Amino acid sequence: MSNEIIHKSVLADEVLELLRPEAGGVFVDGTIGSGGHAELILECIGSTGVLLGIDRDKEAIERTRRRLKKFGKQCEFETEDFSEIAEIAERHSVTEVDGVLLDLGVSSEQLTDAHRGFSFSREGPLDMRMNVDGDLTASDLVNGLDVDELRRVIREFGEERASGRIARAIVRARSDGTIKSTVQLAEIIAKAKGGRRGKIHPATKTFQALRIAVNRELDSLRRGLEGALRILKQGGRLGVISFHSLEDRIVKQLFREHAGVEESLQEGGSVLRRKEPGVRLLNRKPIVADELGIRENPRARSAKLRAVARI
Ligand SMILES: C[S@@+](CC[C@H](N)C(=O)[O-])C[C@H]1O[C@@H](n2cnc3c(N)ncnc32)[C@H](O)[C@@H]1O
Repeated sequence: MSNEIIHKSVLADEVLELLRPEAGGVFVDGTIGSGGHAELILECIGSTGVLLGIDRDKEAIERTRRRLKKFGKQCEFETEDFSEIAEIAERHSVTEVDGVLLDLGVSSEQLTDAHRGFSFSREGPLDMRMNVDGDLTASDLVNGLDVDELRRVIREFGEERASGRIARAIVRARSDGTIKSTVQLAEIIAKAKGGRRGKIHPATKTFQALRIAVNRELDSLRRGLEGALRILKQGGRLGVISFHSLEDRIVKQLFREHAGVEESLQEGGSVLRRKEPGVRLLNRKPIVADELGIRENPRARSAKLRAVARI
């Protein structure tokens, strides 16, 4: 018997409530991962619906293709970056889309596979690529950037206050030879920060920063959101689950730009200024998981769900 713990997908019920998949619906899951959310959507849209699942991790696509085999042609797959979501959908003739889901960040499978190098507590190579054929690894950054560039990456993408101390410690450690493993890097960071205090590991923010930089996550997110809005039909819905403030800020701001702001005119009255395509916010405050949701999947602890409908 396998000891693998199967977690329920993050905010699964809330995603279904917001995206409202119905029989015959057309959906795109831009981060299909292990297919948890996708399977729930596929069950709702039935044999006349279509779901296009995208992920830039080819191992995830292969695993999920097997898991969702029973849905046959109803479920199509593409190993790609969701920043190209509009072009990918067009290639699959997936138009007039009812709903798009983006469940950002890394999956539990990626985190727990030591060889992928995402986890500071599992000995592995400094890799961190979601797309294993990508051109940039965490090792390239850790062993190749100069101290100022390292500090900038750690500060900007990790919001780490000790970025200077950590960057200097990394560069010092490099003079004794290449930094090779996740655990080795985590120890250098912990020492630079003066050891472990509290529940959060001292390397958490630096690892987040490196992962975001390696996968150019924030650029992909901006482009993916714009593309997702373009493929939605009128009334179609986009839901995004983010896991840290940098992502959530981008989602919130872009949704607001498309929802528009009322500007008063000098001559009286007001005008609504907004970016095209226009949307309606489905929730002003992000939806977060309750205690049960966090017990069912610990990743849900920092998850925030925002959604819009195209008007
Ligand atoms: C949190 S997991 C998704 C889990 C999924 N919703 C489920 O229920 O199993 C995030 C997935 O998104 C993928 N991903 C992250 N950024 C991506 C991007 N820009 N383009 C394509 N896939 C991406 C990751 O490779 C990972 O498999």
